[in-house]
Amino acid sequence: MDSPSSVALQRRLEICSDPGSGPGSGPGSGPHLNGCVPLSHQVAGHKYGVDKVGILQHPDGTVLKQLQPPPRGPREMKFYSMVYEKDCRDPCLLDLQQYLPKYYGTWSSADSPTDLYLKLEDVTRRFQKPCIMDVKIGQRSFDPFASQEKREQQIRKYPLMEEIGFLVLGMRVYNVSLDSFDSYDQHYGRGLVKDTIKDGLSKFFFNGEVLRKDAITASIVKVQKILQWFEGQSQLNFYASSLLFVYDGVSSVHSHTLSVQEKTMARSLQKAEGVVEYNNNIDQSLSTMYSLHKKGCTRSHHQSKQDNSKWQPNGNHSPIQLDAKGQDKSGEAEKISADVEIRMIDFAHVFPSEVQDHGYIYGLRNLLKVLQEILED
Ligand SMILES: Nc1ncnc2c1ncn2[C@@H]1O[C@H](COP(=O)(O)OP(=O)(O)OP(=O)(O)O)[C@@H](O)[C@H]1O
Ligand SMILES: [Mg+2]
Repeated sequence: MDSPSSVALQRRLEICSDPGSGPGSGPGSGPHLNGCVPLSHQVAGHKYGVDKVGILQHPDGTVLKQLQPPPRGPREMKFYSMVYEKDCRDPCLLDLQQYLPKYYGTWSSADSPTDLYLKLEDVTRRFQKPCIMDVKIGQRSFDPFASQEKREQQIRKYPLMEEIGFLVLGMRVYNVSLDSFDSYDQHYGRGLVKDTIKDGLSKFFFNGEVLRKDAITASIVKVQKILQWFEGQSQLNFYASSLLFVYDGVSSVHSHTLSVQEKTMARSLQKAEGVVEYNNNIDQSLSTMYSLHKKGCTRSHHQSKQDNSKWQPNGNHSPIQLDAKGQDKSGEAEKISADVEIRMIDFAHVFPSEVQDHGYIYGLRNLLKVLQEILED
């Protein structure tokens, strides 16, 4: 089997030899900066060459996200700097790092030193045929400071956000029979309603031949860990932020059918979901973020542990046990599931808070419920 580094090298060569993504080939654009090219496997958001700003791929394998105009770009940059601050002692933020792409600071080219980019780990890099999905999480896509016009515009884009709590912004899925990727843009996700959301989401796990239940199981485990982090913190609220799902379209183990025990293990990770009331008690400015983030979340971790105990099913099987940090202690989940990456991205609308992020938590719970339903079909 290919080592991660040889897979990354092969993917880099593919990118360089792709005539549609080489320097100077972007729509209406000249040669790209220092050998950087538009991100070839971007599934949503602003696209370089199409929009004024977008995401680039650096020759070293990282991705460069161009800073959006203020206040969004600087806000996202401050968020990354805060989470990855060298002397950070806040357990909550230290814990959060594992759910974000690694951050390598800002980047700019010698020609245009004031044009700033965030230099980030490409979370798809180690995969041979990365299947990628960007899902916006939360019950609303606008932040507490948005104008009435912005609020209405965002609600019009997807009126079901409040009820469903997530929105598929885009995805690309590898079809093993055709040896090609199928892409779905933002219009696909916006067309999904309550009755079609399950089938719509399941497309991400269908490779043209089978449903990749191994990838669904792994996704449930990872989303559950992120949910645990959210249940244990009350210092940050996220609006219009996404989860980026990645799994490999080629896999040596395609788990076509899961045993009853495997299904039960995955189900045991599904916490009973409930309707969560939205709390709009947020009026802090970004400047208070730095003092607020000093608060630890020990109590909350304790709380998460208690919650975890409630998930234990009644049967005789042994459920996957997550510790206080959300780690699978026994490693059982790994045995039955695919290698999946799920990272939080897009932090242009993150704000300090004093309450749990009810909208995001609601979205994660509903997403877990739908994933579980796909698995049980
Ligand atoms: N760290 C990363 N690794 C791999 N791909 C990424 C990464 N960050 C972003 N992408 C790709 O770029 C897309 C857009 O990213 P992002 O949501 O951060 O930008 P955006 O929506 O244009 O930003 P904004 O909402 O701030 O205007 C994602 O859907 C994903 O395909
Ligand atoms: Mg985005």
